[in-house]
Amino acid sequence: MTSALTGTGLPDGVIAVTQRPTEQRSSQWYGGQDRNGYIHRAWMRRGVPSHAFDGRPQIAIANTASDLTPCNAHLNEVGRSVEQGVYEAGGIPLNLPVVSLGETNVRPTAMLWRNMAAMATEEMLRANPIDGVVLLGGCDKTIPALLMAAASVDLPAVVVPGGPMLNGTFRGVPLGCGTDVWRLSEEVRAGTLSEADFLRSESSMIRSRGHCNTMGTASTMGLLAEALGASLPGIAGTPAADSRLLEGAHATGRLAVEMVAEQRTPSTLFSRGSFRNAIVALAAIGGSTNAVVHLLAIAGRLGIELTLDDFDRIGSGVPLLVDLQPAGRFLMEDLHRAGGLHAVLHQVRDLLDPEALTVTGKPLVSHLGEDIDDVPIWDGEVIRTRAAPVLDDAGIAVLRGNLAPDGAVIKPAAASPHLLRHRGRALVFDSVEDLHARLDDPDLDVDADTVLVLRGCGPRGYPGMPEVANLPLPEKLLAQGVRDMVRICDGRMSGTAYGTVVLHVAPEAAAGGPLALVRTGDVIVLDVEARRLDVELTDEELAARQPSEATVAGFAAPSRGWERLYVETVGQANTGADLDFLVGSSGSQVARESH
Ligand code: FES
Repeated sequence: MTSALTGTGLPDGVIAVTQRPTEQRSSQWYGGQDRNGYIHRAWMRRGVPSHAFDGRPQIAIANTASDLTPCNAHLNEVGRSVEQGVYEAGGIPLNLPVVSLGETNVRPTAMLWRNMAAMATEEMLRANPIDGVVLLGGCDKTIPALLMAAASVDLPAVVVPGGPMLNGTFRGVPLGCGTDVWRLSEEVRAGTLSEADFLRSESSMIRSRGHCNTMGTASTMGLLAEALGASLPGIAGTPAADSRLLEGAHATGRLAVEMVAEQRTPSTLFSRGSFRNAIVALAAIGGSTNAVVHLLAIAGRLGIELTLDDFDRIGSGVPLLVDLQPAGRFLMEDLHRAGGLHAVLHQVRDLLDPEALTVTGKPLVSHLGEDIDDVPIWDGEVIRTRAAPVLDDAGIAVLRGNLAPDGAVIKPAAASPHLLRHRGRALVFDSVEDLHARLDDPDLDVDADTVLVLRGCGPRGYPGMPEVANLPLPEKLLAQGVRDMVRICDGRMSGTAYGTVVLHVAPEAAAGGPLALVRTGDVIVLDVEARRLDVELTDEELAARQPSEATVAGFAAPSRGWERLYVETVGQANTGADLDFLVGSSGSQVARESH
């Protein structure tokens, strides 16, 4: 019998929509027998059988694959494995390309667009007939943006971290993506490496698909997504080129269907304990300072109270167990080979929240095994035991003082120990452009004890809070063999960078912070042990000062578009630099019908 609806010859019984339970969110689109139900189904058919709309979970695959985000370009293949898992478990997978941010390409800085990517993803998840979502991210801002979106829309959501690239090598030694760019370029500036050799290393740095292979922001956020409980246990850190990533993606597709059935949404899974686990993991892996801003923003979306001081309080005393670049020797492929995140977390199991849940519905600690034989360390050089850590205390230190009333952070593990307590004369740069214009001036009045200050680089000032806090050292000091100096900035630092860098100073100069008032020649005192950052000026002396014209001229003043919205509504680093109207959750309620 020919179908009256399609004329395909298929029996009516095959294509008739006979059963449409209303309990799925997507059934509000597909479940009706009226004109609107017809429209929603008909436009999605295109070869899809009618039972696709019989109440099966509709699983979006929020996919940040893009040729312009090379670290995520392989995610279409990962997405296909997710699709197979979703189908196998009885769900319907739906590819949903979302805003993608390639760290090395996007100008002025990918961070300017993190909140936009989060907002766009949140709105598309809410606007579409979706019951759950698998989040495919990798490059620095993509996993944070996806998690922020999922938290605000509060649909069952699970992350597949895209994974790091394989180890690069140059002249027989490992080449850390990102980190060695800084190191080699400083060598060129210091005259110890020729420009030709520097350029020769270029094709060795990126050996395979995947994100940066140092413990930069992408590696950190991939691992922290799992520590938070947002990924399939055991998947984080799997190299992008490792076929086990596809196996994990397949299993994640299956898991997403299960999560919908049990309504495991972010608001039911995540707690302060989840963030405690992420902060412990952040310290134990020696992760990027950018994670501080991202975790604060994700917590803000969930309505979970998390402060800058929690990072210091929870992280202090947590040992550094991983010897990875930028501060150490190895790369992400080595970490995975040595046992991965679970081997690390097992060592600090007692510091984790025993009840914090994961996407499996079970606590994180339940996935770590009871004894060491469950999660052995296969290479004790890469992952250290608790008894013999790389450092006893790897936490991120939060500084306060008259230069940073709302806080600033420093990563002591990436700093030079002899500079953690330092008093020096300030050399102030009003903007990135000012820095570039003067830094290598042979007449620059600077020595190894000088404290370099760069301002106008906070969320509002630049805008987007670029990764410039690890400002390069003056050429003449490099030539003298100086390799680190105290640097202070209201911007961020690449997770692949290192040095004695005080960053995320809040309030930023453009938001009225005292950093705007410092002058070249003022004396600055850094005391990491005492958690202090001060300029030797009285309150009265500071109050009597005004920012100079050059300082104010460096602040961004966009007239239109996203940049204007961003500058007018972005919060400070100490609260996650989210837009004020995006903090919190609106849930997944279905918008009104328009036809
Ligand atoms: Fe994409 Fe480093 S540039 S992770």
